[in-house]
Amino acid sequence: MSVLAIETSCDDTCAALVEPGGRMLSNVISSQGVHDRFGGVVPEIASRHHLRIVNAVVNSALSQAGATLDEVELVGATQGPGLVGALLVGLSTAKALAAARELPFAAVDHLQGHVAANFLSGNGTDEGGAAFEPPFVCLIASGGHTLLALVEDHDGFEVLGRTLDDAAGEAFDKGARLLGLGYPGGAALERLAADGDREAFAFPGSAAARARGGRGSAREGFARGLDFSFAGVKTALLYTVRELSEGELRERAADLAASYQAAIVESLVERAERALEQTGLDRLAVGGGVAANGALRRGLARLGATLHVPASELCTDNAAMIASAARFARRLRYPEYLGLDAYASGERPR
Ligand code: KG4
Ligand code: ZN
Repeated sequence: MSVLAIETSCDDTCAALVEPGGRMLSNVISSQGVHDRFGGVVPEIASRHHLRIVNAVVNSALSQAGATLDEVELVGATQGPGLVGALLVGLSTAKALAAARELPFAAVDHLQGHVAANFLSGNGTDEGGAAFEPPFVCLIASGGHTLLALVEDHDGFEVLGRTLDDAAGEAFDKGARLLGLGYPGGAALERLAADGDREAFAFPGSAAARARGGRGSAREGFARGLDFSFAGVKTALLYTVRELSEGELRERAADLAASYQAAIVESLVERAERALEQTGLDRLAVGGGVAANGALRRGLARLGATLHVPASELCTDNAAMIASAARFARRLRYPEYLGLDAYASGERPR
């Protein structure tokens, strides 16, 4: 028997099957790739695209697992937060699949899904794919979210800190756009940064800025806190780029990318370290697309805590993490779940 889950909170159409014990059977992710030319995700286009392919994605999740709907004992879906129109496609599809068979249903919070990616086994991680068990601190950094969570159980987490403005991935994407790297630009910015000097520019939040005692340290207004802010570093890059001639910009692009990346990464690592200190834990997990960043991984590894990084297809949006969370979520019996609605942001409605 297995858990079938669907995730459609943004622009990836995802379905997966996971065993009740946490072994992943399939994890299908169809990235739309139709938003790049707009420089961001267009919600209405995302919803329509989900609608076109969601059934095919569910079918391939079943066939890759060598299963049929007869073997599904629980259906789950992301209820929020995310783009409401996009969420509704996955949520309605999942509810319909469950209702047709009168199966129980679990509505999953997207961020709890990122946390629960760590509870999967057989996921190709360094530790041989074993599940990472609570308690631990979890850093989630994606295009839409950035937060530090205290994970003490399988079915919830406490927010220790979150971004006050942009998400870390969003900061990478906006920086990449300023450097002419296209969308989404986090990975391209990392590649460009590889040839640059990360101390060339002292952007707010970076060690270079603190060493120079400039605006960087002044912006550490929440120095004792665990919240993030990336608006300052983005503005600093904007002003720096504006002051450079086209030729200078070309010449300094790698240094700009390296310094910008360092400011974001150091801010993430520093607060993760603080969260470990404040909770007394020595176990750290990550999630979200920014977890692919090598500088971030190296920075977190240097903290000396036991670090768990799920395979990259489990860090970015996927349905295996939603199925994993569904295993521990409240099970609604048929027909209790038929009226469930999606939510865009904030707390899940009760
Ligand atoms: O989790 P994700 O796939 O989608 C959501 O936003 O939910 O995260 C995508 C984000 C984008 O902002 C992208 O630029 C960023 O992750 N990203 C990276 C890297 N790869 C992806 N940021 C920094 N370095 C990378 N190597
Ligand atoms: Zn996500």
